[in-house]
Amino acid sequence: MPQSYAITAEAIQAERKRVNDDLDKFDAANVIRLDELELRELGPSDVRLRILAVSVEHNIDHAVLADTVNIAELRGGKIYPGNSAVGEVTEVGDRVTRFQPGDVVVTHCNGEPDIYGYPARIWAYDQPESIGWYGREAVVGDWQVIPAPLDCGLNLWEIAALPLRAPTAYHLWRRAEGIMRLKVGRERLARLNVLGFGGGVSELFLMLARSEGHNAFFCSGSPARRDHLAGLGIAPIDQKQFNRFAGPADVKAFSKEVKKQSDGVGMHVVCDLLRGPVFPASLAALARQGVNVSAGWQLGQKISYDSALLSVKQVTLDHTHYDTIDGCNAATELYGSVFKPTVHEEIYSFEELPRAVREMHHNTQTGIPIVRVADDMPDSVKSLAQ
Ligand SMILES: NC(=O)c1ccc[n+]([C@@H]2O[C@H](COP(=O)([O-])OP(=O)(O)OC[C@H]3O[C@@H](n4cnc5c(N)ncnc54)[C@H](OP(=O)(O)O)[C@@H]3O)[C@@H](O)[C@H]2O)c1
Repeated sequence: MPQSYAITAEAIQAERKRVNDDLDKFDAANVIRLDELELRELGPSDVRLRILAVSVEHNIDHAVLADTVNIAELRGGKIYPGNSAVGEVTEVGDRVTRFQPGDVVVTHCNGEPDIYGYPARIWAYDQPESIGWYGREAVVGDWQVIPAPLDCGLNLWEIAALPLRAPTAYHLWRRAEGIMRLKVGRERLARLNVLGFGGGVSELFLMLARSEGHNAFFCSGSPARRDHLAGLGIAPIDQKQFNRFAGPADVKAFSKEVKKQSDGVGMHVVCDLLRGPVFPASLAALARQGVNVSAGWQLGQKISYDSALLSVKQVTLDHTHYDTIDGCNAATELYGSVFKPTVHEEIYSFEELPRAVREMHHNTQTGIPIVRVADDMPDSVKSLAQ
């Protein structure tokens, strides 16, 4: 039977008990474990995939900690996670016309589109029965995969960094820019000031802003990630200089710095996927008419703000999730030309995936963590997987 990683409610409970619910001592690697999984039979509209590489996503951290919801428990005690992968098609069902064996594809994780096409549920997370791609093989509907743009200029690890994060950033950017333009049209203001805080999605968001000619600023605690973005013309701000916004004085100092770097104007668009102490800093950075957009809550789920102040400044807070399937396809067109992701310096082996999750939890990685799943790569990607 093919091997796949699983997260069980039992393992979460045992680890929480071991550390007495102290999440600082929690070891994610004790919770995500290698398992065996019998794949369903190939249906007429399915493709069978050999997984080549995957990226580790933050929802795995949420799933192992059970800090948002206990998704493993809600899904009946066990999930097979992983919703960002590059795979080789090895078999197709009778009705599949878009793919053939040998094609290399990327996945998307819109698990169940709502009436407008946005995900009501995420694949391998809250979509019932969905099996994720942290495994050697998978069987999925053909609607769940997109041809991989192998000639986009990125290597295989960079391509593997993007299937979840790029559509998220693409959607965030379209929404933020659209809302801003509803308030202040292009004839009044051509160049926006755009700020993002550390994290792969924010980085891609800023690459989109920069590619459209805007001023982009990246506030992160990671020198490696700041350097990568600086190389793309995105101005770095060291978040640790402001003690990661531990108190009001730090937020004030940050706000002063933002004003200095933006000629007194502030930021028209801010991407805040972290919340917690980052949220007050993101509000302080906003210009009049500004837009704060978010699809995450890594450091805190609840936010509070002064409604009167935000009304006077005419600030908009917007919440998004993942993109439509059309949006996922469109985001894939921008691999390499716009999206040039930071990748962590070590490419993990399949057996080391739990350590990659642990190191993500401890925020010690220099970029997006990638796991090589296949030892033997197809000829079409061999040169991209050095
Ligand atoms: N809704 C969706 O579809 C969706 C999709 C993707 C992601 N998300 C959410 O968005 C968030 C970010 O995801 P990502 O993939 O961009 O993350 P990522 O690439 O894994 O990066 C996480 C970032 O968190 C920052 N961080 C960690 N601890 C911090 C702390 N104590 N204070 C301040 N910053 C800290 C780090 O920034 P530094 O560089 O400053 O160290 C790190 O770069 C997660 O909550 C994730 O669940 C949502």
